[in-house]
Amino acid sequence: MNANGQLCIGLSLSATWMKGHGWRRPDSGVERMGSIDYYIDLAKLAEKAKLDFLFRADYLYVSPQMLGDSANFGSPDPTMIFAAIARETEHIGLVTTVSTTFNPPYVVARQLQSLHWLSNGRAGWNIVTSIEGAENFGDAPMPSPEERYARAREFTDVVRKLWASFPHEAIRIDRESGQFTDPQQVSAIDHSGEFYSVKGPLSLPAHSSGSIPLFQAGASDIGRNFAASVADAIFAAMPDLESGVELRHDLRRRAEEQGRDPDAIRILPGLYFFLADSREEAQALFAEANAHFSTERRLASLKSVLGLDLSGLALNERVTADMLPDPEQKVRSRTHAELLRRFIANHQPTVAEVLSRPEVLGSAHWVSVGTVDDVLEDIVQKYDAGAIDGFIALPGGSEKSMELFFEQLVPKLVERGLFRSEYAGSTLKEHLGIRPELQSGIQSSI
Ligand SMILES: Cc1cc2nc3c(=O)[nH]c(=O)nc-3n(C[C@H](O)[C@H](O)[C@H](O)COP(=O)(O)O)c2cc1C
Repeated sequence: MNANGQLCIGLSLSATWMKGHGWRRPDSGVERMGSIDYYIDLAKLAEKAKLDFLFRADYLYVSPQMLGDSANFGSPDPTMIFAAIARETEHIGLVTTVSTTFNPPYVVARQLQSLHWLSNGRAGWNIVTSIEGAENFGDAPMPSPEERYARAREFTDVVRKLWASFPHEAIRIDRESGQFTDPQQVSAIDHSGEFYSVKGPLSLPAHSSGSIPLFQAGASDIGRNFAASVADAIFAAMPDLESGVELRHDLRRRAEEQGRDPDAIRILPGLYFFLADSREEAQALFAEANAHFSTERRLASLKSVLGLDLSGLALNERVTADMLPDPEQKVRSRTHAELLRRFIANHQPTVAEVLSRPEVLGSAHWVSVGTVDDVLEDIVQKYDAGAIDGFIALPGGSEKSMELFFEQLVPKLVERGLFRSEYAGSTLKEHLGIRPELQSGIQSSI
């Protein structure tokens, strides 16, 4: 939550409402998706609703699911999209995703600081370690999760040291003396670590608004430790209340163990909502978004997420903990695999129930289907139970669902005192309520 105890809310700019057969609706506007104007219009809608930030995930490979029957104009570089949006908006934060596995830290430090300048202090960085894509960066296979997180730690450390290497205060612009910058304040970082050697300083001074908020996604044991050490916010996969309460409690505890205030870390799950005027219409939208998921496709997805093959079982048979594969088995994302393992161990669901889980149908996000009041109550329940500090809105089903979110749901959150009616500041840091003393310090050792 922010400094006023209100929710932090972001909008994902990934056209989630076009998923499944959503793009085939006559009113989907799918043709506009390939134009920057579309994203600018959405950004303006989100800013009008005083949302904290816009967010965009990013992948550096083409997955087979991207092609064929799903609406997708690929993955344009999100930092470039946000550079265009920066010129068209004034307040809303711009959280871009950049992988620490495939990029050099100097380039990333410069790109993010550039976005911070272009947007007047509104940049945010979603740090990901990525699941796939190694083949696009050389012959080496994908590094293990342990190595990816070790790299992420060192990478983040280097980026933050580079940002500090050329402080804003070094710009003097003193016409009288002729001093433009104070060289004494600009220093090399001389970083030499396990993965990176970077001399510095950065070729760009820091923006006057100060540090760039850090987001993180990935919630395995090492992922959580990393997040607890550096992140201001977590983009969390939270398919249910139970997993949310556990995650938020655990991350706050880990942050405290690492010497941080637990309030310095905000848990913001993806909220994939299907809003309509009636419950029946909302359910129909939800069904339509999943209509392309045949049982065969769901079984294949389950196998890819968890390594569990249930194809020999009837849909009404129970799945129990002893059927789970070896936890040491290699999976794409331990976050998603672990969520499903826990659900199966705790609930002994039927095969049909497992195949309807968000971890199988998508990215393990919290799904909420119903009227504006239904989804509102769902949000309030998660907030009251201590599972969330806010959420990243992933509108589902149709643009109408998104309109209902902006026109009715957000105002109701404002009425309840759970969200702002006006921006109090103009930087992302201010919207999120990040106090300088609560931001984690630059780590000099890894
Ligand atoms: C909610 C969520 C969102 C993610 N978004 C991205 C993304 O946009 N791009 C990316 O390359 N990886 C993304 N990842 C992958 C993570 O960065 C990480 O590589 C992966 O989850 C493996 O880490 P883990 O073992 O901690 O789960 C995401 C993961 C989660 C859980």
